[in-house]
Amino acid sequence: MHSFHYNDGSLHCENVSLSALAEKYGTPLYAYSAGTIRDHFQKLDQAFSGVDHEVAYAVKANSNLSVLRLLVEMGSGFDIVSGGELFRILKAGGDPAKCTFAGVGKTRAEIEYALEQKIYSINVESEEEAAFINEVAGEMNVTAPIAFRVNPNVDAKTHKYISTGKSENKFGIDFDLIAGAYERASKLPNLQLKGLQMHIGSQLTAVDPFVEAVEKVAPLAAQLKSDYGIQFFSIGGGIGIVYDPALESGKADWWESQPEESRPLTPQKYADSVIPVLEPLGLKILLEPGRFIAGNAGVLLSRCLYEKKGTAKTFKVVDSGMHQLIRPALYEGYHEIVPVTEPAADGTVESVDVVGPICETGDFFCQNREIASFQPGDLIALMSAGAYGMVMASTYNSHPLPAEILVDGDEARLVRERQTFEDLIAPELL
Ligand code: LLP
Repeated sequence: MHSFHYNDGSLHCENVSLSALAEKYGTPLYAYSAGTIRDHFQKLDQAFSGVDHEVAYAVKANSNLSVLRLLVEMGSGFDIVSGGELFRILKAGGDPAKCTFAGVGKTRAEIEYALEQKIYSINVESEEEAAFINEVAGEMNVTAPIAFRVNPNVDAKTHKYISTGKSENKFGIDFDLIAGAYERASKLPNLQLKGLQMHIGSQLTAVDPFVEAVEKVAPLAAQLKSDYGIQFFSIGGGIGIVYDPALESGKADWWESQPEESRPLTPQKYADSVIPVLEPLGLKILLEPGRFIAGNAGVLLSRCLYEKKGTAKTFKVVDSGMHQLIRPALYEGYHEIVPVTEPAADGTVESVDVVGPICETGDFFCQNREIASFQPGDLIALMSAGAYGMVMASTYNSHPLPAEILVDGDEARLVRERQTFEDLIAPELL
C-alpha cells in the first residue's frame, strides 16, 4: 500500500496536500510518507514472524536521517555499504550491533570504523578481503565477525545493471568456490565466521528466482552451521515494487480486480515461498529490503516550465530531471507521472516526452507516453521515487539539491533543506 491519493481534486500524501507543500517549500521537492514506510516494514516483519529473523533496511535506498530514525524506532536492523552509511546510522540513533556491512570495495578506514563500532557482521565479497580484514582486526586486537557473500549463479530476471547473482557479476564468491573460502578463512585467527549472505538482484517482480537461490544455497548454510557454527543466513533484498500503475495500486483493494498473474510480489507470497526451505535451518534469517520499504513511500514533485511542440514530438519541460531522479536514464526505469491537480475522468490525454533542464538527450522522465495533460505552471508528481531517488541525485549542471519532506498523518516536516548556490560551492577553494 501507499499513502498518495487524490483528495478533493488534489494529490495528497497522507493528509497533507502536495500542492501546499510545493507552495511552501518550492520545487523540485521530495516528499515521503512515514505511514507507508512503517506499513511496509511491518508487513515484511510480520510475514517472517514464523522464523527467527531481522529486517535490515538497505540504507542505500533512502538514507535521509529522519527516514533512518523512523526505522530505528521500528526496531529495524540496517544493511550498510560504506563508512558514510554507518555514520548516518549512528547519527540517527541506530545501534551498530544491528548493522551488517556489505560491498566489494571496503577501505581500511571503513573496516577499522566498522570494527571500532562493533557492528554485527562484515559481509565479505572475496578471500582477499577476508585476509585483509583478518590483518586489520589483528592490528586492532579484536575479532572480526564476518559472513561471506555467496554468488549462487541464479538469473534474477531484472535489469542487467541491478542483477547481481550471476557468475559474471562482480559480487560475492562463486558458489563452487565458497566452501573452500570458509575452510581457509576458518584458519585465520582474527575472524569469527558468523554467517552467510547472498543478494541476487534488485526489483525482482517474481518469486521464482528467490526460491531457486534459497533452495540452492540452503544446504550450504546447513553445512556451514554444522562445520563452523554460523548463526545467520541473509537472503538479501530485492523485493520488487509496482511502478506502473503506482497510484492505482496504492488503493487497498485495487489488486483484487486484477488477474492473479499480474499481482505484485507481496511480502506474504515471498515469505510463504521461502520459509519452508529456511525454517529447518534453525538459523537467524536476515532480510535486506531497500526499495520495498521506501520506493512507493516517496514522490518527486516538479513544476512544468514550458511546453515545446516540435514537428516530431511534444516536450513538457519541467524543473527536475535526470540529476534528481536518474532511474529512467540509467535503468530505463518507469515512474508514473501524474498531475497534482486531479484530471477530469474525461480529461485530455497527450503523448509527450517529459524532460528536464539538463543538457543531455538522456535527460527525460518519459518518452512518447500517454499521460493526463498538464500545462506550464502545473505541478506533477513522479510516483514511487522514495528509493534510489534523492540518494542518487547530483548537482550536475550546478543545480542545488532538492529539499525533502517527511509527512506523518497531518504533519509535514522539512527533513532536508534545499541547497543554495552558496552550499553548492562551499567545499571548493579558490
Ligand atoms: N542488499 C544488497 C547487498 C544490495 O546490494 C542491495 C541493493 C540491497 C540489499 C537492497 O536491494 P533492494 O531491496 O532495494 O532491491 N539504484 C538501483 C538499485 C540498486 C540496488 C543496489 N543494491 C535502482 O534504482 O533500481
